[in-house]
Amino acid sequence: ASILILNGPNLNLLGTREPEVYGHESLADVEALCRAEAATHGLDVEFAQSNHEGALIDALHAARGTHAGVVFNPGAYTHTSVALADAVSGIRLPVIEVHISNVHARESFRHHSFISPVAKSIVVGAGTNGYRLGIAQLAHLIGSGRG
Ligand code: DQA
Repeated sequence: ASILILNGPNLNLLGTREPEVYGHESLADVEALCRAEAATHGLDVEFAQSNHEGALIDALHAARGTHAGVVFNPGAYTHTSVALADAVSGIRLPVIEVHISNVHARESFRHHSFISPVAKSIVVGAGTNGYRLGIAQLAHLIGSGRG
């Protein structure tokens, strides 16, 4: 099986962007850790990032029929995008919402997520290890037929 790891706006700046919040690892480092984790579960990975809401919606739609599930960090669109939430519920794939930082310990505008009600599982505040946890959870859901 194959999974999609999808990253939203500004995550291309990972490693240099507010390292006190998001750490020093780059998005390429995250991709490497995702590929390593997925391999331990026998999963193939497509890894993608976009700063554009519509491109993220297209990527979610394209995951139908090609991927068994999605690990999704929607970035700031988490807190603004009904369209992304509709895409997540529309594709009927298990989507694991991941945030590197603990959004609940930050500004109040980060406390609400449009994605959480339609996500299968949520990983928050685990740093980049959250991607690893998200992949392990997807592997669990896919393997158990509960995806
Ligand atoms: C984030 C949290 C969001 O509030 C923020 O806008 C991001 C990154 C995280 O991974 O912690 O861009 O999704």
